[in-house]
Amino acid sequence: MTSSIPFEHITVLREELLDSLGLTPGDYAVDCTAGGGGHTQGLLERVGPTGKVIAIDRDPWAQSVLKARFAKELESGQLELLAVPFSQISAELSQRNLVGKIQGLCADIGVSSPQLDAAERGFSFAKDGPLDMRMDQTQGITAGDIVNGWSVQDMSRLFRDYGEDPQARRIAQAIERERARKPFERTLDLADLIAASVHYKERSRKHPATRVFQALRIEVNGELRELEALLESVGPTLKENGRCAIISFHSLEDRLIKLAFRALAEGHTKHIDKRLPITAVEIDKLKRFTIIKPFPSIPGEIELEKNPRSRSAKLRVIEKRGE
Ligand SMILES: C[S@@+](CC[C@H](N)C(=O)[O-])C[C@H]1O[C@@H](n2cnc3c(N)ncnc32)[C@H](O)[C@@H]1O
Repeated sequence: MTSSIPFEHITVLREELLDSLGLTPGDYAVDCTAGGGGHTQGLLERVGPTGKVIAIDRDPWAQSVLKARFAKELESGQLELLAVPFSQISAELSQRNLVGKIQGLCADIGVSSPQLDAAERGFSFAKDGPLDMRMDQTQGITAGDIVNGWSVQDMSRLFRDYGEDPQARRIAQAIERERARKPFERTLDLADLIAASVHYKERSRKHPATRVFQALRIEVNGELRELEALLESVGPTLKENGRCAIISFHSLEDRLIKLAFRALAEGHTKHIDKRLPITAVEIDKLKRFTIIKPFPSIPGEIELEKNPRSRSAKLRVIEKRGE
């Protein structure tokens, strides 16, 4: 898997996330969003040669970067790479007999900088590329399928619910009119049409297509359903005193994480993956969780200056209590 640009990603809240997991040599850890391997590297250092890290990413480009970066650790068995979505994490850990044995499970949700910057992936409204937006380009619908095929009603709902765009309907109607003339193929055609069709303040820092592109990306990749699946796997997979740390970048995701962590801390089992073979006694143990920080951690001034893309990052951490 190659691209027109090098794979360069600055890891967000690196030390905060790693410190929050309480890892010691010999532990098992899972990085659910390995990307360029920034957090994975830190996990490997902390669990040491007697521990084991499982690194997950559904993007074949990230997989090829990770294989090259961690050839030694893959060879020694200290690291295992899995090209699966979050919704398969519980099953993968169950197959390896690792349910209830993980000390640190982490995720840094969303897309990486290189995914965003590679025009041919179609994630960016500022770069001309095909309307794709799939993290795993081997399957699923594209952003083009949505804007060329969905009804005005369905697009309006999508732009409103996942983009929180107050002009959702106006944009959906403009898309319908334009595609009758010529189907959308390129990101810039869509971004220009949106810019021409909405009222926006001249000095607004946000491009008028920001919200629609966010909504399309969330839908194409099933991002919220995937996050729900990840949150369901937290309870069963952690060992006692194990911790889960998740970084998110927009309010829809942060809200899901906050609510799922709160539900775990309050003893609800609705956020637990029902497909796992766990007994009633184990279910009872799953009810004991502590939220480590009532308020999420955010990047400090130094990190923001070095990496402006970290500006909306929020880190939340939960711990499974012991006996
Ligand atoms: C923000 S990047 C992670 C960057 C990484 N922490 C680092 O330091 O390099 C998020 C990564 O998670 C992957 N990803 C996002 N959602 C996923 C899902 N549902 N299943 C598997 N991988 C996913 C993306 O392909 C992307 O490479």
